[in-house]
Amino acid sequence: MTLEEEIKKRRTFGIVSHPDAGKTTLTEKLLLFGGAIQVAGAVKSNKIKKSATSDFMEIERQRGISVATSVMAFEYRDRKINILDTPGHKDFAEDTYRTLTAVDSVIVVIDVAKGVEEQTEKLVKVCKMRKTPIIVFINKLDREGKDGVDLLDEVEEKLGLNVVPMSWPIGMGQRFQGVYNMYEEKLVLFNSHGKQNEEDTITFSDLSNPELDEIVGERAAEELREEVTLINEVYPDFDRETYLSGDHSPVFFGSAINNFGVKELLDCFVEIAPTPLPRTTEERVVEPNEDEFSGFIFKIHANIDPKHRDRIAFLRVCSGVFERNTNYKHIRLDRKLKFSNPTSFMAARKEVVDEAFPGDIVGLYDSGNFKIGDSLTSGEVLHFQGIPSFSPEQFRYVNNANPLKTKQLNKGLLQLMDEGVAQLFTMELSQRKIIGTVGALQFDVIQYRLEHEYGASCTYDSINLNRACWVDSDDPQAMKEFVARRKKDIAKDKDGKLVYMAETAWGLKTVQENHPDIRFYFKSEF
Ligand code: G4P
Repeated sequence: MTLEEEIKKRRTFGIVSHPDAGKTTLTEKLLLFGGAIQVAGAVKSNKIKKSATSDFMEIERQRGISVATSVMAFEYRDRKINILDTPGHKDFAEDTYRTLTAVDSVIVVIDVAKGVEEQTEKLVKVCKMRKTPIIVFINKLDREGKDGVDLLDEVEEKLGLNVVPMSWPIGMGQRFQGVYNMYEEKLVLFNSHGKQNEEDTITFSDLSNPELDEIVGERAAEELREEVTLINEVYPDFDRETYLSGDHSPVFFGSAINNFGVKELLDCFVEIAPTPLPRTTEERVVEPNEDEFSGFIFKIHANIDPKHRDRIAFLRVCSGVFERNTNYKHIRLDRKLKFSNPTSFMAARKEVVDEAFPGDIVGLYDSGNFKIGDSLTSGEVLHFQGIPSFSPEQFRYVNNANPLKTKQLNKGLLQLMDEGVAQLFTMELSQRKIIGTVGALQFDVIQYRLEHEYGASCTYDSINLNRACWVDSDDPQAMKEFVARRKKDIAKDKDGKLVYMAETAWGLKTVQENHPDIRFYFKSEF
């Protein structure tokens, strides 16, 4: 197959949702369709239960699972589908944001009863910033939930998406009878056994046909006719180009647990979802069909087995062909590296691969060479954009609790930062180290992992900080003066970039006003 054909075959996407909306269940059903797993229950939820905040075994269990489910690849109708897993827990939102840099589209799962929830709003915002094409799946139609039209209004309002219903539910909860697939003009009936059989799908192009009353009952038929007429008037027709540019979002209704509406979603997805997209670098736009290989690291998993210092760096192939045992340039280190055991995640099994194509994710065994955001290429110097660190919102001083293990502590902290677990800042004046995270759970994770993987122990001191923002200026003199005047609030991040540590949002505003020559950034990439 040519490179062009390989690219055309691929669909790389992520499923995002608020915890409990049904992401794991939907993933599992998609894998069942793809034959990647044979039985339900094979995909373990990567949810961190509420009680797990202090349960470190749970966190460890989750890490194990999240390696296995980081990428789930399968073939379906001659397409190669790569599903990238995203943690639902809000404290791991940064992981999710980074994973979203490696996908070409997303499916958003919404619980019909709960509607649009907080985590979904945040994640969709990130997708919209990147203009990632979005499909919406409204789940749990077997339960009573919000009215379909109201829900679409909510999706438009809260998520800012222009929706295009592709299917429409017939009843809900106890009265749920199935969906009318408007895209394919088919009536798909929900049978009481909770299974979706071929004979339950009826081609039905004319809803005024009285047969509809016989099939779903007069009342439901009337309702469906009215609602579909209304929808056709209110919402635009589906247009693939508009969807691909992120400007409108097809919506499907179904029930993942009952495997209902999932096949329609998948069939439509493989037809409309984008093939691997170009990626921007600081230097230029990289097209997937370029001959030369390039890719970037968006995730690192370390020390799954504490006895072996193993790390897996996840590489998204952006252009050309990645080949085993071939020398590639690690741009940040300016060094050649080759990989003898790159792994793919086909059918949830790890397998050594000889080659991988744009859109594919390859796991590289790594002894500490990679950081999140690193580029690997055939030789050209490229820096992929869009993999920033976000300005953390929670801060603590970190202290070494065992002076005999200082080396271990420093090594552990640096490695955990490379993995993107949190960010480390060193105050210029006191040289004290501060850990900044997006969520509180990370502090427990760091403490636990330092002890179990590096034999180091740390304690935390609270600190009154509101935000950390990266600073720069076109005027070196202004920068020098700013740093001198604000010395007690200045820190360096792990790469030596200057950061202003603000105690209060109000204080930050004042400092910004007083120093118009200084630019303040809430992401490390600017
Ligand atoms: P998540 O990954 O988005 O967090 O959600 P997950 O798939 O784990 O689903 C959350 C809960 O919702 C699960 O129930 C799951 O069985 C249920 N669920 C998923 N899809 C549907 C659906 O279409 N209809 C209904 N009624 N329920 C659905 P649980 O009780 O939390 O877990 P479990 O004990 O069933 O595993």
